[in-house]
Amino acid sequence: MIKVSPSILASDFSKLGDELEKIEKAGADYAHIDVMDGVFVPNITIGPCVIKALRPRSGLVFDVHLMITRPERYLAEFAKAGADLNTIHYESTEDPASALREIRGLGCRAGLSIKPATDPEAIRDLIPLCDLILVMTVEPGFGGQSFMYDMIPHIGKVAQMTREAGLDVEIEVDGGISPAHVGLVLDAGANVIVAGSAVFKSEDPAATIAALRG
Ligand code: DX5
Ligand code: ZN
Repeated sequence: MIKVSPSILASDFSKLGDELEKIEKAGADYAHIDVMDGVFVPNITIGPCVIKALRPRSGLVFDVHLMITRPERYLAEFAKAGADLNTIHYESTEDPASALREIRGLGCRAGLSIKPATDPEAIRDLIPLCDLILVMTVEPGFGGQSFMYDMIPHIGKVAQMTREAGLDVEIEVDGGISPAHVGLVLDAGANVIVAGSAVFKSEDPAATIAALRG
């Protein structure tokens, strides 16, 4: 089954609770929460205290995308705040294996993301520690960017590696995705679709979410 994870980065931050309710009613599976620290990426967004405040407002899986340096410093805090799925960046820590083990140890599902310049082959040995792999299809940091078509082979490569490992790992894609070209990422093997602008700027979020399932 294809899952849709709207990124609240594109929502109205003055009413985040209402925005979460809106996407839940519209049929979203996950809520994608972009955490940025101004160091790993050149933008600052939200942290555990906001996630904790939002937790009672939503039954959606909180899909937390950690774009922060040395995420191991904060994994326990994000777990406690209500993250269900914590995704770290391969490039953000010297020891991704320990961080992934720690996420699972804290009772969350563990995700690992790669930036566009990272060869998917770099994460092959980490796949058994992952419940999800997030392939970035824009340079992380900002919503509303254009989809990088040259990332399609990355998705295919990650799908192939998970098959070779014989593991049922979700493959998520994030950045610039809209119903117009979602078919390409689905054909390449993605099964969790992140979309910020496409969902939150839509006049009919339910129809857009349905369309993102392909
Ligand atoms: C970018 C974020 C994405 C982004 C997606 O760094 O990780 O989640 O907000 O938004 P759109 O779909 O607008 O590119
Ligand atoms: Zn994201």
